Amino acid sequence: MTAGIMWAEPPALPEVDSYRPNAARVHDCLLGGKDHYLIDCQAAEAMETAAPGTHDAARADREFLIRAATWAAERGHTQFLELGTGFPSQPNVHEAVQAVQPDAQVVYVDHDDVVVAHARALLARVQANVGVVQDDVRDLPRVLAGAARWIDFSRPVVVSLVGILHFVADADDPADIIATLQRHVAPGSVLIVSHLCSDAMEASIAETVAAPLENSRTPLVLRTGEQIAALLSGLTLYPHGACADEGEEGELVEVSAWRPPFGRTPKPTGVVQVLGAVADLRPASRYHMLKAS
Ligand SMILES: C[S@@+](CC[C@H](N)C(=O)[O-])C[C@H]1O[C@@H](n2cnc3c(N)ncnc32)[C@H](O)[C@@H]1O
Repeated sequence: MTAGIMWAEPPALPEVDSYRPNAARVHDCLLGGKDHYLIDCQAAEAMETAAPGTHDAARADREFLIRAATWAAERGHTQFLELGTGFPSQPNVHEAVQAVQPDAQVVYVDHDDVVVAHARALLARVQANVGVVQDDVRDLPRVLAGAARWIDFSRPVVVSLVGILHFVADADDPADIIATLQRHVAPGSVLIVSHLCSDAMEASIAETVAAPLENSRTPLVLRTGEQIAALLSGLTLYPHGACADEGEEGELVEVSAWRPPFGRTPKPTGVVQVLGAVADLRPASRYHMLKAS
């Protein structure tokens, strides 16, 4: 040992299964990141071969998340909770929203050991107003209790469920995740949500796309547009058009069509559709109705 140097005790390393594809790592590969193994890229390639456009859809989903979070920051939001955050990517949500609201608080939540280790090392350590919570969104009250260290839930919060509900089985009631959020957040809170849609896939293609993650901790659950819309029933959606009027009604649309950047025409729909929306999670008017009742 070199005299005079005190080496810090390294944190325990998370156990990694590099023999089976993992949802977060496959997603990282689809985005062109570096936090994955060969098996994950083989899974991503199998998906792309069965369903051309898978890489583009993953990138469009990520861009939607950043666009919608930036839009919310521009409307004055300063608290963000990203559920199912995945590996750090460029830009991360805190970088996008803090460019607009420098004091914004951002909390990242994921259940994956390696994702959380990366998030803690790369995101949370560098900033006091960025937090990381390791937990399962299916136990939302516990997730929210963990996030409360950084987020004041008596004030509006922007919650994102981007690219995660298609990992929540029907038996785990994804609609209840949204209903639980509605009960816990303050009036004025917003939901950013997206979900992989099977409408344009033949059954055999859908099976091939889901196969790599079938025996993983998070099997892929493909849903139809109708099933995804049902998850959001009762929510008021913000208008999605590039020049949309505030009064217009919003729709569940392909993520690339949600307020597309000026001058960019959304790509035509392929086999892989990701539907997304931004919604009032708990409108202020409803709060007053609740208080009055
Ligand atoms: C496709 S990635 C989405 C990443 C990010 N939201 C984005 O849009 O770029 C899905 C992430 O959700 C996480 N995840 C899946 N099921 C989860 C659960 N029940 N609780 C917490 N995280 C979960 C996975 O570990 C993975 O990192």
